[in-house]
Amino acid sequence: MSLTDAQRPANRRERYSSMVDAASRPFAAGAVVVPLILPVLGYVSGDARVMFTVHLFLGAFWFGTAVLGAVVLGPVMGSLSEEANAEFAAGFVPRMNLLMEPVSVGVVGSGIGLASMMGLWASPTPSLWAALALAAALLALGFGPLHTFTSGMFDEIAADDTDHERLASLNKKYGMLSLVELALMVAILGTMAGLRWGF
Ligand code: HEM
Repeated sequence: MSLTDAQRPANRRERYSSMVDAASRPFAAGAVVVPLILPVLGYVSGDARVMFTVHLFLGAFWFGTAVLGAVVLGPVMGSLSEEANAEFAAGFVPRMNLLMEPVSVGVVGSGIGLASMMGLWASPTPSLWAALALAAALLALGFGPLHTFTSGMFDEIAADDTDHERLASLNKKYGMLSLVELALMVAILGTMAGLRWGF
């Protein structure tokens, strides 16, 4: 859709309403509901194998998206012209903004729930504590600075007088922090391997 007539959102409510419009209503609903409902279904199933599958699915999705974003899409976006970058970001940013925070909560929630269904909290191993600490850092990064940068990017894209300099600078900061996110994700996968082998 074209956002050329839109104004820069004045507040959070306005921003989310235009973000939902830009991403499309069905996408926005699915992006929030699916990653949050799956861990709940896994937990109420009472079967650790179901929860394990949910956790793997959401975890693989988050990890894959993080690699793709940091290694491929970020550098490609950075090398586009101002107009092409704004156009690409207009489709990409609202969808990612709506999708990735629920996915991150779904992965961490399903991991904590899985550990409880497997009885691991009775005597947590160092890997389990490390996973919890890394998850807290990942969530703080995602809901904190990464959220602030992508919201700012969306505001610039939605405005009819896009400040391309601010957009590029936010894009750059986002790109650098997404490498930190990727490093934390690689570390948490190390702890997942540790859990598997009982460390
Ligand atoms: C970015 C976040 C995460 C990703 C990508 C992820 C990914 C994975 C993967 C690929 C496995 C399968 C390998 C294995 O069996 O060990 C797994 C298993 C598991 N994860 Fe996670 N995970 C994440 C976060 C968490 C968190 C925060 C917790 C709990 C605090 C957790 C708890 C578990 C448990 C208990 C298992 C099963 C271990 C076992 O098979 O013995 N995960 N996770």
